[in-house]
Amino acid sequence: MVNTHVNLSGFELDNPVIPASGTFGYGYEFAELYDINILGTFSFKGTTRDPRFGNPTPRIAECASGMLNSVGLQNPGVDQVIAEELPRLKKCFRKKVIANISGFSRDEYVCCAEKLAAQEQVGLIEVNVSCPNVHNGGMSFGTCPSSAAEITRAVKAVANHKPVYLKLTPNVTNVAEIAKACEDAGADGISLINTMLGMRIDLRKRKPVLANTMGGFSGKAVFPVALRMVWQVYEAVRIPIIGMGGVSSTEDVLEMMFAGASAVQIGAANLQNPFICKEIIEELPAVMERLNIQNLTDIIGAAHS
Ligand code: FUM
Repeated sequence: MVNTHVNLSGFELDNPVIPASGTFGYGYEFAELYDINILGTFSFKGTTRDPRFGNPTPRIAECASGMLNSVGLQNPGVDQVIAEELPRLKKCFRKKVIANISGFSRDEYVCCAEKLAAQEQVGLIEVNVSCPNVHNGGMSFGTCPSSAAEITRAVKAVANHKPVYLKLTPNVTNVAEIAKACEDAGADGISLINTMLGMRIDLRKRKPVLANTMGGFSGKAVFPVALRMVWQVYEAVRIPIIGMGGVSSTEDVLEMMFAGASAVQIGAANLQNPFICKEIIEELPAVMERLNIQNLTDIIGAAHS
């Protein structure tokens, strides 16, 4: 019998499969489709201090082998997440969840982190310094090592000893340098990659398809880029990595782990097939047996040696 357990800085998961933030709501929506307790855990919708309506529509554009989104961090705000979303989740999910937080200032990150770290349902804080769809926030903190480090330190100080993972953008020249700055500032782990900045033009209207002009590109097409960045970050840091970006099969999960991921998030594929995580979890033991993998932890970063 194979062993699918993995560990994220003391947060034990039955398996490494984690629906990514922004593709799984606050979880209970998917509990109508299947028992979400089979998941390793999931990362909930990026949450800010204040409620946000998000960007104007259209916010989604289809592309070959992927999609663009410019949602703009639509969410009900941290207080409502604690008062309403987490209690609803508790009725259908007995595991701890990843709280994904975002913000427009250091104080906003601190406010969200402090409030969510105090919730017993939260097992890990994922700090999104990589959203490409908002101005003066999100990605602007994650494209420079010193600002990523500053947010890391500030969140760690209020995290109630819960693991803090920085979610990084691929829209930089040297992702490993930013990951290392976060590690040096006290990050417990790194999540990567968020979406790649892109755009489409509507030929009839002669205008950008997205109301916000640009958006974040995700889906199968980005998988090799994500894998490369997980590989580079694994060589630069000693803390665990959650790999993501274009993952859509059991084999993709294993590739991410061989590159250095301790667990793997699945994003755009959830939007195409809401059962994808369930299917991967069910298939994982057979694929491991076929590839002669007894313990998943044995393959983390194993392609480097
Ligand atoms: O626009 C959004 O809500 C997406 C956030 C992200 O990619 O981090």
